[in-house]
Amino acid sequence: MKVLFTVSEASPFVKTGGLADVAGSLPKALCREGADVRVILPLYSAIEEKWRLKMNFLFYTYVHLAWRRQYCGLFCLVHEGVTYYFIDNEYYFKRSGIYSEFDDGERFAFFSKAVTEILPLLGWDPDVVHCNDWQTALIPVYMKLEASDFYSGIKTVFTIHNIEYQGRFSKFTSDDVFGLPEWLFSQGITRYGDDIVLMKGAIYQADFITTVSPSYAHELCNEYFACGLHEVIRDNSYKLTGIVNGIDTEYFNPLNDRSIAVNYGPETLGGKSECKKDLCRELGFDENDSTPIIVCVSRLVEHKGFGLVAESLWDILSKNVRLVVLGTGNIEYENFFRNAEINSKGRVSANIMYSETRASKVYAGGDMLLMPSRSEPCGLAQMIAMRYGTVPIVHAVGGLQDTVRPHPSENSNGFAFYNYSSYDMLKVIDYALEIYKNKEEWQNLMHRGMTEDLSWNCSANEYLKIYKSLKKQA
Ligand code: GLC
Repeated sequence: MKVLFTVSEASPFVKTGGLADVAGSLPKALCREGADVRVILPLYSAIEEKWRLKMNFLFYTYVHLAWRRQYCGLFCLVHEGVTYYFIDNEYYFKRSGIYSEFDDGERFAFFSKAVTEILPLLGWDPDVVHCNDWQTALIPVYMKLEASDFYSGIKTVFTIHNIEYQGRFSKFTSDDVFGLPEWLFSQGITRYGDDIVLMKGAIYQADFITTVSPSYAHELCNEYFACGLHEVIRDNSYKLTGIVNGIDTEYFNPLNDRSIAVNYGPETLGGKSECKKDLCRELGFDENDSTPIIVCVSRLVEHKGFGLVAESLWDILSKNVRLVVLGTGNIEYENFFRNAEINSKGRVSANIMYSETRASKVYAGGDMLLMPSRSEPCGLAQMIAMRYGTVPIVHAVGGLQDTVRPHPSENSNGFAFYNYSSYDMLKVIDYALEIYKNKEEWQNLMHRGMTEDLSWNCSANEYLKIYKSLKKQA
C-alpha cells in the first residue's frame, strides 16, 4: 500500500496546531503497519536549517497554475523511517509566516497543483493520495480534471480537520488564480453563493472523506457545526467516516519527557507533585499552596470556549483554584488573560506564547485541564493531559465526547458538561473539585487516563482499511 500524505504542516518541521501533530504521527504509525506512506509539504522558510541540511535535492520542474508557469523544486528527507518531500518555491514560501498571507489561496493552489504535476515524475506511484484541510483541497479537484489513465488509477482521500477553515474566495479567482473550468462553479461543485469554497470541491471530488472523530462526523450534518456546508456533507455522507486521532505516545510521555522536573508514570505518581511545585516556581505561584491548578493549553480563540472562560473567570477563581493559560490567538483574549494575571494576586498565570517546553511543564504540573470548546473536531490537548495525569474537564462535543468518559460513569477518565453555557461549565468544575478532595478516587481517574490507549494503533488500521477498499476499486 503506497500513500502520499499531503499536508500544509507537519511536526517536527513546521507546526501551528494539531494538524501538524497528526501529520507527524499518523504516517509513522501507518509505516509501522507495513504501508509505504510518504508525506509532502511546502518548504517554508520557517523550516529550520538543521532540517534543510539533511535534505536531498531531487529535481525541479515548472508547474502550470492558470496562466502562470512557476518553478518547483523537490527536496526529500527521511525522518524516523518516513520519507518527507518538500515543495520548493521561494516566491510562495519564503515568507515570514506560514499562513495569513494575502495570497494564501494562490500559495496553496500552487502547492496543490505542484503535488498533482509531480506525481508522474516521482518514480513512485502511490495507490492513494491523502489530502488534509482546505490547503490541499484542490488536489482531488485537479486530479479529476487530468485525463490520463495514470491519474484515474490513483484514489483520493480528503480529511476534514476543522470545517471552520474552508478556503473561501471570490468567484473571480476560480479561473484566474486556480485555473478551474467554469463548469465546476456552475454545476455547484465549488460554488458557495457568489464565492468558491475549495473544501466543497474536495468533498465532491475526493473518493473518500474522513474527519477526525466519529461524533464530529455526525455533527457535520448539522447546521450548527458545519459552517454552511451541512448540505454538502449530507449529500456526500455515503463516503464519509469519522476516525478518532491518536497521539504520538512516545513523544508525549511523562516517563521520559526531558522538559519536566521529575519523570513519572502511572505507577510513580509522586513525581507529578514535584512537577506541580516546579511549575509554581516557574510561574511565580506559591509552591507551598496545594490548591488545585486548572490549565488551558490551546489557541486563544472563541471556538475553543474562551468566551465561557472569560465571562466566568472570577466565578472560577472564587472556588479556590489557580488557573494557567498557555497559548496565543485572539488579541482580546490574550490581553484579557494578561490583565487577569495582574489583577489576580498570583492565582492566574497568562503564558501568551507558543512553547512546547512550557506546555510539557503545564501538562505535568496541572491537576485539571479545562477544554470547553464550542466545537472540537478531535482535540489533542485532552489526550496529552490524560497521558500526564491531568484530568480533563470538557464540553461534550466532537472528539472530546469520543475520548473523555465523564465521571461518575464506570471507567471514567474525566468530566464533561453538555450545554455550552458557563453555568453548566461552573457546575462541572465544582463537581470535579469535590471529587478532587477524595484522593483515592482522584488517583483512579488519573491512573485510568494515563493507562488509556491513546496511540494510533487502532485508528491507523481504520485508515488502512479505507485505503485498501479504495485500492480494490481502482
Ligand atoms: C484541528 C482541530 C482539532 C484536531 C486537529 C487535528 O486543529 O481543530 O480538533 O484535533 O485539527 O486533527
